[in-house]
Amino acid sequence: MKGIILSGGTATRLFPLTATTSKQLLPVYDRQMIFYPLNTLIKAGIKDILLIVAPEHSGQYLNLLGSILKKHGINLYFEVQKTPRGLADAFIMGESFIDDDSVTMILGDNIFENDLSKEIKQFKSGAHVFAKKVSDPERFGVVKFDKNKKAIKITEKPKKWISDYAVTGLYIYDNRVIGAAKKVKPSGRGEIEITALHNFYLKLGELTVSTFSGEWLDAGTFDSLLEAGNIVKKKKIYKNFDPIIEKAIIEFNVELKELAKKRLL
Ligand code: DAU
Repeated sequence: MKGIILSGGTATRLFPLTATTSKQLLPVYDRQMIFYPLNTLIKAGIKDILLIVAPEHSGQYLNLLGSILKKHGINLYFEVQKTPRGLADAFIMGESFIDDDSVTMILGDNIFENDLSKEIKQFKSGAHVFAKKVSDPERFGVVKFDKNKKAIKITEKPKKWISDYAVTGLYIYDNRVIGAAKKVKPSGRGEIEITALHNFYLKLGELTVSTFSGEWLDAGTFDSLLEAGNIVKKKKIYKNFDPIIEKAIIEFNVELKELAKKRLL
């Protein structure tokens, strides 16, 4: 299983904060947002992770993550996405990285309280996504279930209500996702939508959807960013990090303090 974190985009809703850095490098409580999706993948035992970033932020990501994980057996690769073409672009950009494997993709601004490693580790083929009940489904990809809790329809940002279940930003696919992504046509908003990929597997009868009880935070506005920090602190989500990543953060802090002492920062 390979991992991809999609961490590009322009994040205009967070201007002026994102005029100087990437949204996913903004702090959520005591660490950069990107550590949360990174933790989700590392907890699931994924060792090869591709980070897709916008051109103007690639240097900042390298400064933060370029060397701290390698010594702990995590191979981090970088790709620059010149324009935000849509979420499905990750599988086209990531084709040679994914190679013949399956892939789990997580959005760089999605924070999950739950440990979702069981589903990632047990994945065999097809596609698996996670849904969560929300009060504003029109902002998301939305999944409709039949009475047996089987997914029967997925629509991106439906104008008319179809269900309260949003598809969250963590997706597990088998290798056919690369070919499927290449066939997706841009939507009304000009993006190659991830929802088209869910529908590809749904039509084949190979999409499964599970729900979970814990918090799902998507920190894309001032209010949701503040709320994410507060919830992470209150529920101590930052204390449940995988030991690999926790160690890497601590070591990096020590390294930074040394550099600061020598006035090399
Ligand atoms: O958060 C879950 C939702 O994410 C899903 O329910 C939707 O089905 C899915 O389309 C997506 O909706 P959003 O409208 O929230 O996606 P957004 O354009 O905000 O992009 C999500 C993240 O991915 C964001 O942090 C920026 C990054 N991104 C986005 C695009 C389109 C990229 O890095 N590259 C891209 O090309």
